[in-house]
Amino acid sequence: MDECESTNTECLNAAYDSDPGNLWISALSQTAGRGSRGRSWTSSTGNLHASLLLLDPCEKQHLAELSFIAALAVRNTLAEVLADAGDKTIGLKWPNDVLVNHKKISGVLLESTSKTDSMCIAMGIGINCSQHPENTLFPATSLAVQGLSITSQELFLKLAGHAADVLCQWNRGTGFTRIRDNWLEHAEGLKRQIKINLPNRGPINGIFETIDERGYLLLRTANNETMRISAGDVFFD
Ligand code: BTN
Repeated sequence: MDECESTNTECLNAAYDSDPGNLWISALSQTAGRGSRGRSWTSSTGNLHASLLLLDPCEKQHLAELSFIAALAVRNTLAEVLADAGDKTIGLKWPNDVLVNHKKISGVLLESTSKTDSMCIAMGIGINCSQHPENTLFPATSLAVQGLSITSQELFLKLAGHAADVLCQWNRGTGFTRIRDNWLEHAEGLKRQIKINLPNRGPINGIFETIDERGYLLLRTANNETMRISAGDVFFD
C-alpha cells in the first residue's frame, strides 16, 4: 500500500474479512504506526513497515515464540544485505529488537484478535532503512547510517523469504529449541548485568542468565534469586 494507519490493523481487518492468512501487507508509510507498550512508531516513507497475518499458527502455549521468529527473520535479512557493508555487529535484544552496532534498527509488534473462529495474529515489523528517530530511550540507527542504501520494497522481498524459512524451521512450535539456540547465538547482554523496565513496575537489575524453553528471560538478581520475566524493556550497562 502507499499509505495506511497501520499494517497490523490492515492484517487484522483482512482476517475479519475472512482472509485465509499467510498474507503480507506492507505500506510505504503509516499514519498511526504502533510500537510496543502503547508507544507510537514513526513511519515515514523510506522505512519498511510490514505485517504478516497468520491464522492458527500454533497451539496457544507457543504463541509468544513468534517474537523470536520475527526477530530472527529480521536478523537474517539484515545479515544478508549488510554482508558487504563492512564489519557490523548484528545483535538481538530480548525479546525481539534487532541491533546493528548496538543500536536499535527494527521493532516487532505482535497483535491478535479473537473476533473470528481462528486465532489471528498480525506479526508487525518495522525496519529503519533511510531514517531513524532521535532521542529515543534506547539509541536507534538506520541502514542508511550503517552505509547501506536499499529501498523498503527490496528489503521487504528479502524479509518475506527469511520469515518463511524461519517459520518453517519453527514448525508450529515443535522446532523452538533450534530457534532458541539461534536466538541465543546472537543475543546481546548474555551473562552480563542488565536493567529491565518492567511494565507497571520499576526497573530491576540483574545478570541475564538465558532464555528458557518458552522464551522467558531468566534474570539473577543481587539476592541470588532467579526471576522469570515475560515482558519488559532491556537496557545494557
Ligand atoms: C517497537 O516498539 O519496537 C515495535 C514497533 C513495531 C512497528 C511495526 S511497523 C509495521 C507494524 N505496524 C505497526 O503499526 N507497527 C508494526
